[in-house]
Amino acid sequence: MLLNKTNAFAPVTEKAYAKLNISLDVTARRDDGYHDMLMVMQTVSLCDELSITPEPGERVWAVTSLPYVPGDARNLAVRAALKFLELADDQGRGMKITLRKHIPVGAGMAGGSADAAAVLRALNRAYGFPLSSEQLLAAGETVGSDVAFCLRGGTALAAGRGEKLTPLPSLPPCRFVICKPDFSISTPELFRKLDNTKMNCHPDTEGILAALSAGDLDGLCRRMYNVFEDVDDRRMRTVSAAKGALLDCGALGALMTGTGSAVFGVFRDDESARLACENLKKEYRFCCVAEAIGPLLD
Ligand code: C5P
Repeated sequence: MLLNKTNAFAPVTEKAYAKLNISLDVTARRDDGYHDMLMVMQTVSLCDELSITPEPGERVWAVTSLPYVPGDARNLAVRAALKFLELADDQGRGMKITLRKHIPVGAGMAGGSADAAAVLRALNRAYGFPLSSEQLLAAGETVGSDVAFCLRGGTALAAGRGEKLTPLPSLPPCRFVICKPDFSISTPELFRKLDNTKMNCHPDTEGILAALSAGDLDGLCRRMYNVFEDVDDRRMRTVSAAKGALLDCGALGALMTGTGSAVFGVFRDDESARLACENLKKEYRFCCVAEAIGPLLD
């Protein structure tokens, strides 16, 4: 049922799942200020919890469980809601987005983009699916480079700014342990530093795709690579130490996700992952076990 101007949508809830980079390559600097990327991305079970309620008036705002996350249009969730209202031809509709944040901020896990994607999925459901998946993905792209992936979810190869997606076979069964050192990294800042770094190494993306097709978890873990780890930035020493700690705890492979600062290790099963997480919690305030999540859009 499509809405008319007088009847408001029913409140909705949605989960906003984080992403991990199994690999991250930057292939070119573009004229529009962005970079061309080639990334193998995975949606994981760590998520923010979202609810959206219609409100009298025209204001669209977010209330979050973290005091330093803005509630106005600086928040990607608010921008996504405004974009949806424009496309659904329901501008002027007021709503409150309540965000219970569990995904760490400034961690390279696309927390803000995940929230934006969840808003788009939730509102489209609440309005009776006025937008097709393609329209929703196109709307997401305008909000942020990672929003399209966060909308679609699962395992995918992301190219262009990150919005050109090719679905990939799911990862073989495994668990992730995610740790975040006690600092956040600004994405634009790390891109700038990368521009001043001579990149000698790139991920073997073809090899990763072959390992995925073969269901070869060890082969995949051996090839995980993120070019941002090579940026000349002293914080990468802490990142490297966190990777070392994960490997010492038995991870098959460890990597920084996105522009960091979160780092994850891949474990063969839940038991070994939980054991590692218990150990690492002594050192890292944020440490959790997560599993892979499949596609989120039809
Ligand atoms: O698209 P989004 O707003 O998430 O990007 C944030 C910033 O990250 C951009 O302003 C840009 O500095 C950088 N970025 C980039 N190339 C990409 C994605 C992001 O340079 N493919």
